[in-house]
Amino acid sequence: SLEQVKENLLGILADNTDYVVNNIIEPFCRPHEEYCRIQQLLLENLERGLDPVSHPTAPVKMYPTFVRDIPNGTEKGQMLALDFGSHHLRLELVTLDNGSCTVDSQNGFVPETLLTDGTGEQLFDYLAKFLHRFLKQRKLLNRSDPIPLGFTFAFPCVRLALNRAVLTHWTKNLHCDGVEGQEVVAMLEEAITRKGEMNVVVDAVVNDTVGTLMSGGLDDPTCAIGLILSKGVNACYMEQLDRVGTWTGDTGEPKQVVIDTEWEGFGADGCLEFFMTLYDKELDEHSKRPGRYIYEKMISAQNLGEIVRLVLKKLHDDDIMFQEHWTEEMDTRGRFYTKYISEVLSDEDIRFQKTRHVFEDLHLGHASEIECRVLHHVCQIVSTRAATLTALGLATLIDRVAKNEVGVAVDGALYRYHPTFKTMLEQKIPLFLKKDKMFRLVSAADGSGRGAALAAAVAERIKGNHCA
Ligand code: GLC
Repeated sequence: SLEQVKENLLGILADNTDYVVNNIIEPFCRPHEEYCRIQQLLLENLERGLDPVSHPTAPVKMYPTFVRDIPNGTEKGQMLALDFGSHHLRLELVTLDNGSCTVDSQNGFVPETLLTDGTGEQLFDYLAKFLHRFLKQRKLLNRSDPIPLGFTFAFPCVRLALNRAVLTHWTKNLHCDGVEGQEVVAMLEEAITRKGEMNVVVDAVVNDTVGTLMSGGLDDPTCAIGLILSKGVNACYMEQLDRVGTWTGDTGEPKQVVIDTEWEGFGADGCLEFFMTLYDKELDEHSKRPGRYIYEKMISAQNLGEIVRLVLKKLHDDDIMFQEHWTEEMDTRGRFYTKYISEVLSDEDIRFQKTRHVFEDLHLGHASEIECRVLHHVCQIVSTRAATLTALGLATLIDRVAKNEVGVAVDGALYRYHPTFKTMLEQKIPLFLKKDKMFRLVSAADGSGRGAALAAAVAERIKGNHCA
């Protein structure tokens, strides 16, 4: 438990008790009431985003999607799914047949330079080329009837229709010219046309959280929330239509719609300032977008490692530890990868083999046992705070969903590889629930892609129902 971690840490650094309390424990181990205050602020932010009057300036955008239901198992057909969320790219040929879903997939990688220095046209040409290769290998080029495609685009978008979305702004450090403010499906379709030989129509475009919800929903019908814990951190959930003031679409059955919260934006108005440590402030100052994505910066896999590094650096700079050895790597922003946290926390060896390996990777060999133990505790403290912040957000959404039993479909590296994140979420969510609810975390590994295909299939089913 956190209490034990605090005690151990104080024991190890007994000569510097005040220092440890002031620089590690106090800043990170905040009282439950402060988390409750954050939960209240988040709830207010969700409501601001849903209200048409406050929506334009709301930091949490709460975009209504055109996704109105999760799969019910009757969806059928074959379609493509293209999943793009930053460096990783994934294509799938999805076959749906009465509840069963088979996927033939291929993973790819987008070069960094294209993401940060390229133009939108180059980026979409790259996606189209990847699609072309995939179709060629499966002998699906030059088909007479079009193949439907679901596009998972893991960035904040204003939705105009199930297959129309405008990118508001890039997140996750992407900087690709000429896409912000543009319709991304149109850009993809133009690139597909430029490349030629492909008869593909884009039926749906969804955020990765929505894809994850759809995918989880196919396996578990209680799913009403989709969560991504990765480089970016975001969630979507099923909201009742009469609570969505910004909804301008069809008001027929089902009277609900998936809201993409884009809650990574929480804190952009400064409301989380009281909770930020000096490490958070330093990380924020040196980030690409200072002052924004404060909530995400305290949770995401892009930043947790950096927070740990800043704590270690402080211990070094103040001559508390690591006096003997320090390296350039440890002075380099972003060089302490979040995957190290997972490695350190899964180290059960009394000789700290995995932890030593992490230090060696940072060219900080010969770490002492004390250094290994301190690193372990810092990783734990930083992770616990991230999990608590996520739990309060999830509890807020679980309470809003009009169901007593709520499945949360989850994916992302932090969820998959961190040894205790999932357990911490399960333990902490109940501390923030205000209603009597049952919840369950449903792993939807690699589900965000096929989720876009499912979203298109669900829309077809609802349309069919309307006609009948
Ligand atoms: C970022 C994006 C958001 C996405 C999340 C997870 O926060 O803005 O749209 O869902 O990352 O990939």
